[in-house]
Amino acid sequence: MIVHLVCAVLFILALRKLSSVRTAVKGNNLVIAGMAIATIATFISYSLNPRGLWIIAVMSLGGGVGWVITKKIKMKDLPQLVAAFHSLIGLSAVCTDTAIFLNPVMFNLHLDNNVSLSLEIALGLAVGSITFAGSFVACLKLCGKFKNNNFSNIYILNTILVLMLILLTFLFIKDPKLHRLITIMLLSIVIGFTIIVPIGGADMPVIVSILNSLSGWAATGIGFTLSNNLLIIVGALVGTSGAMLSHIMCKGMNRNLVDVISVGFRSQQVGSKNMAVQSSVNLCTAEDIAFMLENACSVIVVPGYGMAVSQAQHGIKDLLDKLLSRDVNVKFAIHPVAGRMPGHMNVLLAEANISDNFVYELDNINNEFASTDIVIVVGANDTVNPSTKDDPQSPIYGMPVLEVWKAKTVVVIKRSLNPGYAGIDNPLFSKQNTLMLLGDAKRVINDIVKQL
Ligand code: TAP
Repeated sequence: MIVHLVCAVLFILALRKLSSVRTAVKGNNLVIAGMAIATIATFISYSLNPRGLWIIAVMSLGGGVGWVITKKIKMKDLPQLVAAFHSLIGLSAVCTDTAIFLNPVMFNLHLDNNVSLSLEIALGLAVGSITFAGSFVACLKLCGKFKNNNFSNIYILNTILVLMLILLTFLFIKDPKLHRLITIMLLSIVIGFTIIVPIGGADMPVIVSILNSLSGWAATGIGFTLSNNLLIIVGALVGTSGAMLSHIMCKGMNRNLVDVISVGFRSQQVGSKNMAVQSSVNLCTAEDIAFMLENACSVIVVPGYGMAVSQAQHGIKDLLDKLLSRDVNVKFAIHPVAGRMPGHMNVLLAEANISDNFVYELDNINNEFASTDIVIVVGANDTVNPSTKDDPQSPIYGMPVLEVWKAKTVVVIKRSLNPGYAGIDNPLFSKQNTLMLLGDAKRVINDIVKQL
């Protein structure tokens, strides 16, 4: 009990530290310490028998695979890795619930006339299966391997499937039979697919966060079934923080959760192209921008997903150093959903040793664009799209946006005039005070630094 308390405190402190880039590493270390203590204590509390050795062997194998993955994974691929890991949490909940059903005595449980246990197993299995399938699809989508978003009215099918799931759960509680459990599992996997498959564009970050929350609740469910306080606490921490993050992100995109899950309008608009917007843009070279920067007093850099793709953050750090040595006032503006996961840009800038002191969130910097000489947009698109303010027909109308076009000059660095993740044209490109510098962000930034 004391060990559980110590671990719970460590996890809560970790969550606090993880909320800032500056203290995130300490937070991570606290989580590792808490998990290590909890694992060792679990082994000590059960005498080690051959089965325990098997568990250690499997854990070592899993840990080894995890270690190799974290060494090899590129920063830009982190969002899909997170989704893949959520999928595994769902799968482990499914396995645990199935094991409890098949052999409850091994867990000191009895299924006969035990309504609450049947309910816990059915719910745990449903949540775990939805998390497993949904996160798997989210991972494929973030890898760009699942692009078909054209499923209008699928929410009618989803409603029918969810009603069937409720009915099945009820039947299972009345008479817990294996075939019913398997049907609950299969139906939930289908629901996981049909809910996530049609979701696209700007709603994806919220879905990843909701799945994160679901994986926490799946763990909590198992905690209740096994009467394991620590699992209940940890699952609830993950579940609640994921739910809060989903809420914050919905606010950041001017959406609500029901809208996001019931889908429809956003994905249908993906790919709409307004060629007129793309017809007249001002192109420029790295040399032009270097010349302008030499005469600038204030610069705001707006990073987006393209910075992650090209790994331009280190070049941006060199650019920052050059500008600081010339007494230019430099700031970084971060949109809450820039990139492909919450905090994506903050992590990359921190990786390049760009101090937190230069980094500002949307609300704290939006009114500074009007008094800024040059804004450099590096691989950002949807998060700087003026349609969010002045085109009520746009699917992202009303979403908070970095109002970069208010600056004296805006330089947009990207490879083409193609739309961003939401598939929507960006009128920023053809504004009079916008200069387009086309090319890979890393190469272009390095060229500017060389010119400076
Ligand atoms: P996006 O709107 O996705 O635009 C990124 C731009 O980067 C693209 O237009 C692309 O244009 C450019 N680019 C790609 N590779 C590049 C390279 N090597 N060099 C230079 N430019 C490159 O990015 P954003 O402004 O950061 O907005 C994020 C979007 O992703 C939002 O719609 C958001 O809802 C969604 N999203 C966010 C998350 C989270 S949690 N942050 C998760 C999933 C989805 P070119 O192809 O022309 O180069």
